[in-house]
Amino acid sequence: MTSNRKWKIGIIGAGGISEAHLEAIKEELRAEVVAIADVAVEMAANRAARHGIPQVFGDFRELLAQPQIDAVVICVPNYLHADTAMQALAAGKHTLCEKPMAMNVPQAEAMIEAAKQAGKVLMIAQNNRFRSEAQYVKGLLDQGKLGQIYHVKTGWVRRNGIPGWGSWFTQKELAGGGPLIDIGVHMLDLALWLVGHPKPVSVLGQTYAQFGPRKKGLSEWGRRDENGTFDVEDMAVAMITFENGMTLTLDASWASHIEKENVFLHLYGQEGGTSLNLMEDTLTLYQDWQGSPATTKIEPRREKERVKLFQNFVDSLEGTAEPLCTPEQALYINRLIEAIYASAQSGEAVRL
Ligand SMILES: NC(=O)c1ccc[n+]([C@@H]2O[C@H](COP(=O)([O-])OP(=O)(O)OC[C@H]3O[C@@H](n4cnc5c(N)ncnc54)[C@H](O)[C@@H]3O)[C@@H](O)[C@H]2O)c1
Repeated sequence: MTSNRKWKIGIIGAGGISEAHLEAIKEELRAEVVAIADVAVEMAANRAARHGIPQVFGDFRELLAQPQIDAVVICVPNYLHADTAMQALAAGKHTLCEKPMAMNVPQAEAMIEAAKQAGKVLMIAQNNRFRSEAQYVKGLLDQGKLGQIYHVKTGWVRRNGIPGWGSWFTQKELAGGGPLIDIGVHMLDLALWLVGHPKPVSVLGQTYAQFGPRKKGLSEWGRRDENGTFDVEDMAVAMITFENGMTLTLDASWASHIEKENVFLHLYGQEGGTSLNLMEDTLTLYQDWQGSPATTKIEPRREKERVKLFQNFVDSLEGTAEPLCTPEQALYINRLIEAIYASAQSGEAVRL
């Protein structure tokens, strides 16, 4: 299909992240948002009024029943990703689903099967892959400029960053876990995409809950529910080994006694290394030039990652590109997350 038509998009879930998608979609001339659904219908109505969206639904199945809608963006809580995506695909809608892909591996596998059955695009919204710095590092790696990567040190750590205390965010049954599946998933995805998804061999993980149970370390993201519960971790650490000899360490925390929030990814390569700081948008390259250490600050041309992500989704619908974040890659990340939780529970390393 060529781009002389506008793809009609429906948004499912009108909470915090839907706003970011709506802003990005506005910049993609080949698409327009024609409907939005949320069980909290007033949320959907407010979002619709703000963005000039003509149709509002309290039940997303009504949105899926609209024949003119080509594709949906799924922005509901984690426990609803799989079911909503599978219903959307079965209704013939291409689907862009927020991260984490699913709560667990069987759900992710079922989503992949549903996309195959429907013959529709299923893409996971791993926006950080589209950041200019990340794309730049991918280019370096693809050209072999850093040599073999033998270690990755990555993490997303916050000082006071527990989202929506008591809401779905802090309930295992509704979120699948705490910061590991919420923000650790971003860094695992980014790191392993950069290095080409090597085969994992073993996973050792541990989780902690020092702040959440005491209602400390809270942030303003999400809607707090004072009557809700907190039964997830507020910090997780992991070490993963891979068949090619590479190791990866991950820190993910919503709250901790540290200086400030940090989102980092360090690659250790035989010929060079890089440090990405996604809080400060900095990228540093470390090499040896004529036997001396050379440190280079790279300033890639800034592009809006969510606009790039949505462009890639539309390109996939038009058959001119593959989705950059495939569901198979997201399943691989779901497997690692599941193994980290299993290791934390058993106190033993998990072999994959
Ligand atoms: N990529 C990112 O950087 C990023 C950032 C934040 C959130 N997210 C992801 O986006 C998703 C939503 O997060 P959020 O922060 O917007 O949460 P939120 O709680 O602000 O919004 C979720 C919305 O879904 C609605 N909802 C619940 N059940 C529904 C149903 N059956 N049908 C329709 N709507 C329903 C809720 O009423 C709410 O308005 C989560 O999976 C989260 O992990 C991604």
